[in-house]
Amino acid sequence: MPRPLPFTGPWLLAPMEGITEPCFRSLVLARNPPERLGGAFTEFVRVNDHAVPAWVLREHLGPDRFAAPVGLQLMGSNPETLSQTAEQAEAVGAPVIDLNFGCPAKGALRGCAGSALLRDPSAVERLVRSCVAATRRVPVTAKIRAGYDDDSRVEELARAAQQGGAAMLTVHCRTRKEGYCPEVNWERIARAVGAVSIPVCGNGGASCHADLEEMRRRTGCARVMVGRGALADPWIFSGRAATAAEAAGFLLDYAEQLGARAGFAPAAASDRLKQLIRQWTAGGLCDRDRDGWLREVDPERLLERLRTIAGLASRPA
Ligand SMILES: Cc1cc2nc3c(=O)[nH]c(=O)nc-3n(C[C@H](O)[C@H](O)[C@H](O)COP(=O)(O)O)c2cc1C
Repeated sequence: MPRPLPFTGPWLLAPMEGITEPCFRSLVLARNPPERLGGAFTEFVRVNDHAVPAWVLREHLGPDRFAAPVGLQLMGSNPETLSQTAEQAEAVGAPVIDLNFGCPAKGALRGCAGSALLRDPSAVERLVRSCVAATRRVPVTAKIRAGYDDDSRVEELARAAQQGGAAMLTVHCRTRKEGYCPEVNWERIARAVGAVSIPVCGNGGASCHADLEEMRRRTGCARVMVGRGALADPWIFSGRAATAAEAAGFLLDYAEQLGARAGFAPAAASDRLKQLIRQWTAGGLCDRDRDGWLREVDPERLLERLRTIAGLASRPA
């Protein structure tokens, strides 16, 4: 019997390297009700020839706890070190352990991890099984792409994850070859849903709140995971249209937390803000002058502009 999942709602924040560290994740979790945003994930934690120490896993999980759980995502291809890390992850309190079989980065492929494993469904099964065996209660989930070069093995991959004991399967509907192309084929998610009895979480191309229900309706998936759509609008899960002031407040809080909690210097925090501003739609904050926001080289002036919109502008002395 697959272990019960702790998610509190149907929509999930996707793991995103360089983005879903504790500061960003907590801001998103705090702004969406747990009955809508049912959970989130850490960025992937790479597992090579040694198990990842507990303190690293704790850092990825971060200090904040919300009603909705944050799963710890691991990426590796060595069943021994991956399962030892899964055991550690359970010991440090991870409520879900997700295994990454989708990362298309060259580093992952060289290490035969991430999406490299999509060529070998038996390895997917083996790795999931090793982590399920190493843990006691925590559910182990798997995240795949629809295939390596094409989608012909999506059912086989889904069944492999189920056979290994995965409690949920996330299907990012693009193949490794398709990278992050704008076109998506949700039919591939429906095919995975038809192939397994465990819950399937659909992923890929949901860019507004209406897409979440639409993906569920069209594919039969139980949950929907959102990646870049949440970078454009962190309120996408609740479906609430944020005001410009709220949107500016989010970015200010993000900059503040990156500095205070993650030790970012102002210029580095400003770069992270711009990473979001590039696609940001919430509150219509920068739709009309995106280039102007991105051209701002002075971190303090960027913050001051946000403070003005948030109604928090500092008064001249
Ligand atoms: C910047 C970035 C980093 C990502 N990092 C991860 C990661 O660490 N683990 C993972 O499984 N997927 C990662 N992904 C893939 C996303 O989780 C998601 O599957 C993908 O973006 C498709 O969803 P979307 O169309 O809603 O963005 C990343 C995607 C982006 C854009």
